Amino acid sequence: MNRSEKFWDKQAARFDREDNDSASTENKTAGKLRKHLKPSDKVLEYACGTGRLAIDVASNVGEVQGIDISSEMIAIAKGNAVERNAENVNFSKTTIFEARFPEDSFDVILAFYILHLVETQQVLRRVYDLLKPGGLFISETPCLGETKSVVSFVISLASKVGLVPKIQKLGTAELEDLLVNIGFEIVEAEANSDMIPIDYIVARKN
Ligand SMILES: C[S@@+](CC[C@H](N)C(=O)[O-])C[C@H]1O[C@@H](n2cnc3c(N)ncnc32)[C@H](O)[C@@H]1O
Repeated sequence: MNRSEKFWDKQAARFDREDNDSASTENKTAGKLRKHLKPSDKVLEYACGTGRLAIDVASNVGEVQGIDISSEMIAIAKGNAVERNAENVNFSKTTIFEARFPEDSFDVILAFYILHLVETQQVLRRVYDLLKPGGLFISETPCLGETKSVVSFVISLASKVGLVPKIQKLGTAELEDLLVNIGFEIVEAEANSDMIPIDYIVARKN
């Protein structure tokens, strides 16, 4: 098990409790996404955590597959799906590079609070390959490269000394350029002006 898996395994129970406490925020996210979803859609949620977003959107689509590297997150996600009678959602512990996912196979891929934790370009290329032509990529990413706030400094330091997983200091324009260079068309982009800007992007595979 690598360090990142161990870190997220340890966070899983607390993460789920906090997600549950901020359930109205989650619903707001799901509400924002719904206009992009169709009943026939096959959706992949990359880094689904404890599965709350995947479950929130499940009734709007054909099926959702949630994947995450943390077995603890996945175990809680499976329990949440049973609790909420979400029968068209499947959760598995795996990475986005697993060979069982064929290219051109998903209508929508969701990636919330993950692109700053991985090799962003490599992951976005894989996302592009996995989407059907015309498919949508929808993400929200903290862009630490966009701010010099104390919070950003502390997070970067904690990441450097290994207290939290490695973090990429992405900029909003950098992220959008990466997507365009890979072949995506940006459909919607919105960055808030909080201490750490969060970039919400909807991009289409052409
Ligand atoms: C900040 S949490 C976000 C969870 C969820 N997407 C959300 O918005 O609530 C990051 C998640 O990414 C997962 N993760 C980290 N690296 C990953 C990787 N390489 N592949 C898949 N999941 C990963 C962690 O286990 C954790 O569940």
